[in-house]
Amino acid sequence: MKPYDVVGIGLNAVDTLIVVDRYPAFNTKVPLRRHVRSAGGQIATAMTALARLGKQVAYVGKVGDDETGLFQRQSLEREALARLDLRVATGAETQTAYIVIEAESGERTIIWHHDPQLDFTPEEIPPDLIRAGKLLHLDGQSTAAAIRAAEIARANSIPVCLDIDELYPGAEGLLPLVDYLTASTDFPASVTGIHDPEQALQELARQFGSKIVTMTLGVEGSLALCDGKFYYTPAFSVPCADTTGAGDAFRGGFLFGLLEGFPLEKTMQIANAVAALKCRQLGARTALPTWAEVEALLN
Ligand SMILES: Nc1ncnc2c1ncn2[C@@H]1O[C@H](COP(=O)(O)OP(=O)(O)O)[C@@H](O)[C@H]1O
Ligand SMILES: [Mg+2]
Repeated sequence: MKPYDVVGIGLNAVDTLIVVDRYPAFNTKVPLRRHVRSAGGQIATAMTALARLGKQVAYVGKVGDDETGLFQRQSLEREALARLDLRVATGAETQTAYIVIEAESGERTIIWHHDPQLDFTPEEIPPDLIRAGKLLHLDGQSTAAAIRAAEIARANSIPVCLDIDELYPGAEGLLPLVDYLTASTDFPASVTGIHDPEQALQELARQFGSKIVTMTLGVEGSLALCDGKFYYTPAFSVPCADTTGAGDAFRGGFLFGLLEGFPLEKTMQIANAVAALKCRQLGARTALPTWAEVEALLN
């Protein structure tokens, strides 16, 4: 028996969320409604989603030796992660984002900072930990390290999941090692040059060979391609306070469905449900649901 359902390696961030009535015009002054500091980041948030859903999760990430890093660590220590391997890069700045949220729609605009000293090298990837998981979840930020991690997983028949929103340098070497590719809305068109979502997903699957290729579509839901068949799943209609981290929550729900061995239709519903429930409150992780809450929404 493997000790971990999922091993996630990659980004975390500390977000400063600012809620405004309307996104401000250039060179104006506007009052804010609320402001709050809250922990997030792609992989850390997806792993937190899985832990809240009751899975055994190992998370490997990096922070700087600053106060923001301590905030991130304390936030992750409050979650029921089975293993937290949060490394400290001396002299580095913990990843931060300043996020402006429009009150009415909950849609967000992100201004972020990534210190390259937070990137992983291939030597820093822990082979034993990867082998101790049933699934590996990565982002594309530290590409060489992600390739090393994916190669270890593949050599041990562990499926590789990738959260990707832009084609980082070297990603061409990573994508062919991915079994479950979950892209942001704009990624398929930007990589393939094809604007039709279905054709773009087909092209991604053809080029890189992933078993399931998915794109999230914001308030429209999601589109997945598996074995030549498309799965369009609408989003749940919920009062939306903040979409920050919705995509990360979606990936957490998707991995949950995979682990449970659910049919893809149900897995996609779960992914959309986890993401919708996340949108209830301000912050990437604040409202990540329990399984009971997901079940209640599905029924
Ligand atoms: N306003 C919303 N209401 C309900 N669900 C939403 C809303 N916005 C996003 N979602 C859900 O979150 C998922 C991810 O959102 P999306 O905006 O595509 O990702 P990102 O986090 O990259 O902006 C969607 O597939 C959908 O299920
Ligand atoms: Mg969005």
